[in-house]
Amino acid sequence: MSAERCAIRMHDIHTRFGDTVVHRGISLCVREGERLGLVGGSGSGKTTLLREMIGLLRPSQGRVEVFGYDLNSGDPGELQALRNRYGVLFQAGALFTDLDVFDNIALPLREMKRLDESLIRELVMLKLALVNLDPAVARAMPWELSGGMVKRVALARALSLEPELLFLDEPTSGLDPIASDNFVQLINRLHRELGFTLVMITHDLHTLPDLCDRIAVLADGGLVSIGTLAEVADVDHPFVREFFHGKRARRVLTAAGG
Ligand SMILES: Nc1ncnc2c1ncn2[C@@H]1O[C@H](COP(=O)(O)OP(=O)(O)OP(=O)(O)O)[C@@H](O)[C@H]1O
Ligand SMILES: [Mg+2]
Repeated sequence: MSAERCAIRMHDIHTRFGDTVVHRGISLCVREGERLGLVGGSGSGKTTLLREMIGLLRPSQGRVEVFGYDLNSGDPGELQALRNRYGVLFQAGALFTDLDVFDNIALPLREMKRLDESLIRELVMLKLALVNLDPAVARAMPWELSGGMVKRVALARALSLEPELLFLDEPTSGLDPIASDNFVQLINRLHRELGFTLVMITHDLHTLPDLCDRIAVLADGGLVSIGTLAEVADVDHPFVREFFHGKRARRVLTAAGG
């Protein structure tokens, strides 16, 4: 097999919280430029794995490399430089509720402390346009927005530093089917135009055929499978059977031609 170019490489990751064992030896490569979906039951450790990928949490054991840099090597300057190369849309609390849309998107730019306000304004308005939001939305407060708009603003903020790596944790949860489809199309368009590597956690089988090149399945503390939708759906495992072959799943996959 030819050597894979990995944006992220995880090697033998073990994670424990007290007596709770979440990961029991997970190794994987997120290929540069791919769209990787991460699925697994609630509590299977998807968000925890994501937090380890971005250096927010240190695994109990194992190694995480992002763009070839070992997150455990402990150089704070390197870690900060790395943080500027990825964007994250977290599962909960997508926006700061006491800041308007403009200030939410401007936050990462202001934290860099290198840009003047006129440039920040230009960049924020560009990001708003990128996620198909009207300029007038800039001065709205989060509670004035629909669920789909909140996700778009959060995406604009995740993209504000023009990341090479984008992490989305349940980006379509809470959206109705139409808003969810629109959001998937938006992410795909941005992936084509901006060329980032995407890691996306989802419960939403419906989004997988359109949005992911490969899918990683977490269960029982391990990586059950990683591959194309057809490959992972073929694995004999109780979670895979339920998730990919339950009644609802068959309808979705048949409709998608999978
Ligand atoms: N900081 C923490 N301290 C203690 N336990 C934690 C911590 N973070 C996560 N856990 C536990 O680790 C397990 C995995 O949690 P995680 O949030 O990664 O699951 P998940 O797959 O993202 O679930 P969901 O689909 O519901 O979002 C859970 O049992 C959770 O309670
Ligand atoms: Mg989670």
